[in-house]
Amino acid sequence: METSRARLGPRAAQVDWVVADVTHWRPDRRFDVWHDRALFHFLTEPAQRDGYRAALRQATAPGAWLVVATFAADGPERCSGLPVRRYDGPGLVAEFGGDFAPHDVWRDAHRSPGGVLQPFTWAVMRRR
Ligand SMILES: C[S@@+](CC[C@H](N)C(=O)[O-])C[C@H]1O[C@@H](n2cnc3c(N)ncnc32)[C@H](O)[C@@H]1O
Repeated sequence: METSRARLGPRAAQVDWVVADVTHWRPDRRFDVWHDRALFHFLTEPAQRDGYRAALRQATAPGAWLVVATFAADGPERCSGLPVRRYDGPGLVAEFGGDFAPHDVWRDAHRSPGGVLQPFTWAVMRRR
C-alpha cells in the first residue's frame, strides 16, 4: 500500500485507503465496482468466505459489478507460502451466484513477479 501511495504521489490524496481484514470489514458506503485479484483464494474456511460475502453485500447495490480472479483449479496450491482454495469458472460463479449473475468468465495465465506462469480463473458478475 505504501508503494502504491508513493507511486501515485499527490494523487494518493484522491484515494480512500482502508486497512482491514475483509472478512470482518463492514463498509459504510457502497461502490459501483468491487475488484479482487488474488485475495479470495486465500479464504480456505467457509466462515471466511461468508464474512467476505457479507462485506461484498454491504459494499454493493443491485447493478454493481464484481470482478474477481483466483488461482484456477489447476493453479498453484499455495501462494506466498499460504494454502489456497482453487476454482474453475462454475465453482467461482457458484460462490457468488445467489446475489450476482455471471456476465463473463474466462481463464488466463498470469506471469508472477518471479516470472512463473499461474493459471487464473476470472469472473465478471453483476449484482441482481
Ligand atoms: C497475492 S496478493 C494480490 C495483490 C493484488 N490484488 C494483486 O493482484 O497484485 C493478495 C493480497 O490479499 C491480501 N489479503 C489476504 N487476505 C486478506 C484479508 N482477509 N483481508 C484483506 N486483505 C487480505 C494480502 O494482504 C495481499 O495484499
